[in-house]
Amino acid sequence: MNRPIELDALAGARAQFPALERWTYLDVAGRGVLSREARAALDSHLDERMMAGGDKARFFELVETTRARFAQLIHAAPDEIAFAKNISEGLNMIATAFDWKRGDNVILCPELEHPNNVYPWLNMQRYGLEVRTAAARDGHIPVDEMIARMDRGTRVVTASTVTFAPGFRTDIETLGRACRERDVMLLVDAAQSAGILETDVSRVHIDALAVSTSKGLLGLYGMGFLYCRREWAERLIPAYLARFGVDLGDAHEATLGDHSFRFAPAARRFDLGNYNFAGCAAANASLGQILEWGTSNIERHVCALARALAEGFLEMGLPVSGGAPGPQLANIVTVGELSADHYGTGDDRFNRLYEYLSANRVKLSIRRGTLRFSCHVYNTMEDVERVLGLTRQFLAC
Ligand SMILES: Cc1ncc(COP(=O)(O)O)c(C=O)c1O
Repeated sequence: MNRPIELDALAGARAQFPALERWTYLDVAGRGVLSREARAALDSHLDERMMAGGDKARFFELVETTRARFAQLIHAAPDEIAFAKNISEGLNMIATAFDWKRGDNVILCPELEHPNNVYPWLNMQRYGLEVRTAAARDGHIPVDEMIARMDRGTRVVTASTVTFAPGFRTDIETLGRACRERDVMLLVDAAQSAGILETDVSRVHIDALAVSTSKGLLGLYGMGFLYCRREWAERLIPAYLARFGVDLGDAHEATLGDHSFRFAPAARRFDLGNYNFAGCAAANASLGQILEWGTSNIERHVCALARALAEGFLEMGLPVSGGAPGPQLANIVTVGELSADHYGTGDDRFNRLYEYLSANRVKLSIRRGTLRFSCHVYNTMEDVERVLGLTRQFLAC
């Protein structure tokens, strides 16, 4: 029988990740694992730094290749990508680039955002920004209510593409359409979706998007990207400015132009000093692999795994967030009652299940009081069956 094309595309992926020899690794929502290829790229960068100091022209080429690959991943232009050290920095780069006036507001659902997408806005209140909130509804970011709360003062609406817990998808397309109609910026935190779900920023009207490479992009901590749509970027003034944010054509990095400087095109204005070249080496390699596997294929694969996991838990009578898999399902399955606790669940049985699975070399995490399982390209149906089997054994004891 012919194998579906998408499975062929992903067939070699698992062998790239030695961590899978030790773990049933279901924790990309916490952090991804490095592939052999990303590790080799990093090693070779470090070897060059150790043995020869490094060739700056080649480092800059690496930066541009990495920028172009990330742009390709989300269907943007390379000029619309800036480098950031993590999601918090990307979000803050946007929050601090507006000229806030009293009467301006930002809309978000703080209960379901990561704190790193709440504090940047609270910090802007001192410039008169109103932080306007929408309450979560059954674990969902209430897109309709966020739209209803927009008014003439709304400048930014921000949401996670997929929440870190309970791990539901947000209806970004509907939010994006409403923002575009009102000339409001839609800024997304793509921590949980980049490299995992197919993302076309223009199709769903995303204006800005922040990611780090430590999760679905299968790279390092301390490295990330900020996408900002050209039309928006060119209306914004970066809070920090240095040489790479200034347009001096191909002039040397140490060139000082005249004092009436011009910002670099689009999101490049947000680039600061020298880059995290080691982070780039790893990200460049992993982005190359992810582009080859294809995010549409990865999305189909991880959603099938998450569906099987959710259905298996439901058959055992476990409380899967959101119940039967529906449009909310991405690559994350959470079990238990949502709470504010990240160290334990509110149910001793689930705390013991967490211990049991961990002792059996399953990597998962506890977030917002739930057991969180998250899949990526390297997971297989055998991983799902193993976790379901262990859970059945645990419940039978
Ligand atoms: C939705 C979301 N945003 C942000 C972060 C982390 O932000 P940063 O990359 O700034 O550490 C996480 C990490 O768990 C996350 O899940």
